[in-house]
Amino acid sequence: MITILAIESSCDETSASVCRDGLILSNVIATQKIHEQYGGVVPELASRAHMQHIVPVVDVAIKNAGCTLEEIDAIAFTQAPGLIGALLVGGQFAKSLSLALNKPLIAVHHMQAHVVANLIESPKPSFPFLCLTVSGGHTQIVLCESPLQMKVIGETIDDAAGEAFDKSAKMLGLPYPGGPLIDKYAKEGNPNRFNFSEPQIPGLNFSFSGLKTSILYFINNAGASNVYKESQVVSTEEKKQFIDSNLSDICASIQSRIVSILLNKLKKASRETGIKEICIAGGVSANSGLRNALTDMGIKEGWNTYIPKFEYCTDNAAMIAITGYYKFLAKDFSPVTVGSTARAEW
Ligand code: KG4
Ligand code: ZN
Repeated sequence: MITILAIESSCDETSASVCRDGLILSNVIATQKIHEQYGGVVPELASRAHMQHIVPVVDVAIKNAGCTLEEIDAIAFTQAPGLIGALLVGGQFAKSLSLALNKPLIAVHHMQAHVVANLIESPKPSFPFLCLTVSGGHTQIVLCESPLQMKVIGETIDDAAGEAFDKSAKMLGLPYPGGPLIDKYAKEGNPNRFNFSEPQIPGLNFSFSGLKTSILYFINNAGASNVYKESQVVSTEEKKQFIDSNLSDICASIQSRIVSILLNKLKKASRETGIKEICIAGGVSANSGLRNALTDMGIKEGWNTYIPKFEYCTDNAAMIAITGYYKFLAKDFSPVTVGSTARAEW
């Protein structure tokens, strides 16, 4: 029996999970609400909140799993990428526990773990599979050959998909994180009402900065399609009125374009590689428009599609635990001197 305790602290969720022989026994997530009032994650506040949450979160994860610290065989933690102060809190905690319990330490790459989240529950994709990993900081198409063997075959050259959602929401005056709110309003809107053009980026890479600019001009001009000016040409009151009376249609149109950018590249990747086992991962995979469109495209393209359940899509320690489990089997341990890094290739 192999029992792994995992800790995730790369951004604004403090999370701990226990996994036994590849089965998740607990997954506790403390979300930091403090950032909402600032319109984005404030790194220093995130580190402080992780320090407050980490002991109780780990404690509850162990209790919920019905096990004791003595039963833990290894401690896995998110080593990279993420906010450095936030990563350091989870990293130092994991290292201290590893030394105190005299158990091995397993460093996990956060983006790899998002992909491996697809292996938590059945039915599981068979190898090789493609995974569209879409979060607040990343947008990647990953070709996965085994739980620990994967390579990025396409990625964003500027903003991530989650940033495209959050920045669009901010322009509409919605609070952070705006992605789930755009999703909510989009459900009642007409996705064909406003047209934002799809960028022509070669290969399997993505770009969202052009979309962001066109949304900014669109909002600043209260939807006048023939005016392309960065500066606001209508009064603040007119702009607000335009947003208020068209919010659902604007959200649906923005969401539909982000989703089509993502899925057209995924379709290209599938056709080029011949792989029809298709997964999505990361916070944006919670988006209902993306989930529905993936299912529809999967039927047309003859794919088997896999979407982790919601709590395994956004940041969580269960995905770190399951990756830690595969690393344990491969005896891929790390020394306590291993450093946390904000950016890391994999
Ligand atoms: O993976 P994640 O929890 O954290 C990072 O590693 O970045 O992803 C967070 C991102 C945020 O940009 C958030 O707005 C977005 O995922 N997100 C959504 C939805 N739920 C979360 N975006 C669109 N629709 C959603 N339902
Ligand atoms: Zn993430």
